[in-house]
Amino acid sequence: MQGLKVIRSKIHGYGVIALRPFREGETVAYGDGIVYTEDDDFDDTYSLILHYGEDESDPQLLLDLTDQTRWINHSCDPNTEVDTYWDAETRTATAWWLATRDIEPGDELTYDYAFAPELAEPCFCGSELCRGVIVDEDEIENVSDRLKHLVRNAALQRSA
Ligand SMILES: C[S@@+](CC[C@H](N)C(=O)[O-])C[C@H]1O[C@@H](n2cnc3c(N)ncnc32)[C@H](O)[C@@H]1O
Ligand SMILES: [Zn+2]
Repeated sequence: MQGLKVIRSKIHGYGVIALRPFREGETVAYGDGIVYTEDDDFDDTYSLILHYGEDESDPQLLLDLTDQTRWINHSCDPNTEVDTYWDAETRTATAWWLATRDIEPGDELTYDYAFAPELAEPCFCGSELCRGVIVDEDEIENVSDRLKHLVRNAALQRSA
């Protein structure tokens, strides 16, 4: 990826940093991958949801990222957002990351995974706004009892 580098991350495992400045609104990266349906047997750790199935005949589609964008970590105060586009006619998927604020060289790229509560994990993003768990902020009240003690910040204030 031009202007980006995979590194050992302070957040988790591998991550991706910027090697040059990116301005707010700029496209930072495009992601390439293989399209799977939710019923396929594959490791979905590196997947983005492309299409939410509406009924049983319409399966959910996931894009398993095969390039370096697969290493972009989650933050509760992210500096990018990811957009996806699924063209059902040509069966092609597009994913791209946009800077949501100015990004300086050395900054780690992050986006909000907004996981469903059943997929939630402890969060180590280190931001002051960290919710404590990787979960959709509108679903934070629904995290499992196992993770509830980790929930903090806005989520706690809302439920207080
Ligand atoms: C797409 S991978 C990201 C790359 C990952 N760092 C690696 O080396 O495999 C997603 C997984 O990374 C971990 N991860 C990403 N962001 C995290 C965060 N803020 N806190 C804790 N774990 C995180 C979680 O286990 C998550 O399921
Ligand atoms: Zn966090």
